[in-house]
Amino acid sequence: MHHTTDQTVARATVAPNLVDYEAARTAFDWADARALLAGLPDGAGCNIAWEALDRHVAEGRGGQVALRLLGRAGGRREVTYAELAEQSGRFAAGLEQLQVAAGEVVVVVCGRQLDLFVAVLGALKRRCVVCPVFSAFGPEPIATRLQLSSAAVLVTTPDLYRRKVAERRGDLPALRHVIVTGDAATAPDGTLALDPLLAGAPAGYRIAPTSADDPALLHFTSGTTGTPKGAVHVHGAVVAHHVTARLVLDLHDGDVVWCTADPGWVTGTSYGIIGPLTCGVTLVVDEAEIDPARWYAILADEAVDVWYTAPTAIRMLMRAGTDVPGLDRPRPHLRLACSVGEPLAPDAVEWGERHLGLPFHDTWWQTETGGIMVANFRSMPIRPGSMGRPLPGIEVALVACDDEGDLVRTPAGEVVLLDGAAQGMLALRTPWPSMFRSYLGAPDRYAACFAPAAGATWYLSGDVVRRDRDGYLWFVARADDVIKTSGHLIGPFEVERVLVEHEAVAEAGVYAVPDPVAGALVHAVVVLTTDTVERLAGGDPGEVLRSVMAHARRHLGASVAPRQILVADDLPKTRSGKILRRVLRARELGLPVGDLSTLETGAVQTGAVQTGAVQSGAVQSGAVETGARP
Ligand code: WT7
Repeated sequence: MHHTTDQTVARATVAPNLVDYEAARTAFDWADARALLAGLPDGAGCNIAWEALDRHVAEGRGGQVALRLLGRAGGRREVTYAELAEQSGRFAAGLEQLQVAAGEVVVVVCGRQLDLFVAVLGALKRRCVVCPVFSAFGPEPIATRLQLSSAAVLVTTPDLYRRKVAERRGDLPALRHVIVTGDAATAPDGTLALDPLLAGAPAGYRIAPTSADDPALLHFTSGTTGTPKGAVHVHGAVVAHHVTARLVLDLHDGDVVWCTADPGWVTGTSYGIIGPLTCGVTLVVDEAEIDPARWYAILADEAVDVWYTAPTAIRMLMRAGTDVPGLDRPRPHLRLACSVGEPLAPDAVEWGERHLGLPFHDTWWQTETGGIMVANFRSMPIRPGSMGRPLPGIEVALVACDDEGDLVRTPAGEVVLLDGAAQGMLALRTPWPSMFRSYLGAPDRYAACFAPAAGATWYLSGDVVRRDRDGYLWFVARADDVIKTSGHLIGPFEVERVLVEHEAVAEAGVYAVPDPVAGALVHAVVVLTTDTVERLAGGDPGEVLRSVMAHARRHLGASVAPRQILVADDLPKTRSGKILRRVLRARELGLPVGDLSTLETGAVQTGAVQTGAVQSGAVQSGAVETGARP
């Protein structure tokens, strides 16, 4: 390609922040990393919003552009560090006027717009606990998170409020204030408008002393069973956000950075807001959904230097083909492209190399880790398909699992660490600054994430990985039943719970099937109660399934609801009554289910799944599928 030389030159002129991996690991010290932060004035502690905004203003960089917001319908708006510092300060002052106290939870359900940044950073200044929630969720997952967090404040848009929250308001007694974007004229009953709140609040908000151990962020994540888990992170996590933004994303002064993650998920907070802003760079924020031509235009027109995206998006670009306008444009600035969230296949790494002029660098982390833990660094040769190597300051171990996937324990209750090239569950030596400090209200679930070995306590990630003899880590599988669809983590239980709320559904099993773009799709098998099918639809299960599908989409949102629902006479279960989701999956895919007698506690009921031919949008022989994309 004609621009390869330009790109090589531009890339070569910026030296990587991490030049020598081994040397950086040896020299690394979290205390040195902490010294890169400013700290609140007069030794008043550590506050994420100060590090992200006010610090730069205090040091004379207030005129630097913090956000470059690209509107859905076109248009471009730049906001400086000084402006964002002031607006977020006004939001903090507004919360104070509303008597919202430090430690109270502020849930933010918003698109990628300025108000989101003002609310998140303002709430952090007020020392509230910020909980971003995905705006594509339906009313049920949103209400669940508002309830579990006992949120005192919700920040959202008038439209999202009307469609997803208003009818559930009565179930949310802890929710004292709903603040909606815009002015008073568009604010629904029972809400406060954000614009007048900001205008009426004083400028010059002074952040009160903040401890690095004060809770700052709450991110809900899903497990196999039970309600979503609220992972709590502290203000001191900003050290990890900052250091990883420098070492992995390789952020330098003057960079333009584009993190495509939605702010409703942890990547959108750690690297779509906090990490880059602590480095003083300009963040590109695109309000619109993924569109290949639009994305190529953004990379070129906005002169993006560093790009952080996800495998599901990369696969979408790959599938769109090479005729998409803009793919062949010069991108002399683009220095680094990184990926996170799911396995990044070697062909995706190579596609980047061929069509963007640089490979994708995979990174690994989780909601619980708060920041990147494993990465292919810019200066390190990539092994396509590998997640890379642990960050300086992070020690990983592989923990032995038995044939059934359970952890091996010594009589003393320790787990067993494996040496050298091996396969096991990925574990991280505690602590590190962005480690989650609790699952809200669920101390037992939190405690179950940790185990002792070799004189240390290890966080057990739930991911099975392979380590090669050079220490590169390769993703193998998750040890549980959670589903990653389009990069979003969905707990099967949360979906099953909504399905069985439908009057015709007696039982439901939810599982993942592979998909070339989304990575995985959510599918379900339900057992219907015969008399209800008779009463509702004169015995036609297809009609009932359509109503179950409509129910699921209405309550869960299209991105969480199953894409296909099948009917069965009963569900396969262990003797103890747990649904064998992976048997449902194996049956649908025609895979061997494995020797269940050794895997499970004994007898497995053999409910037959009525499959039949299933087509998008069609209902045939007891199966329904929806054609909607997530
Ligand atoms: C799970 C965590 C990653 C932060 C945002 C999502 C999977 C993550 C990779 C990767 C293969 C990956 C793991 C992990 N995952 N990165 N590079 N290769 N799998 O955080 O929603 O808590 O999801 O995402 O299974 O446990 P999350």
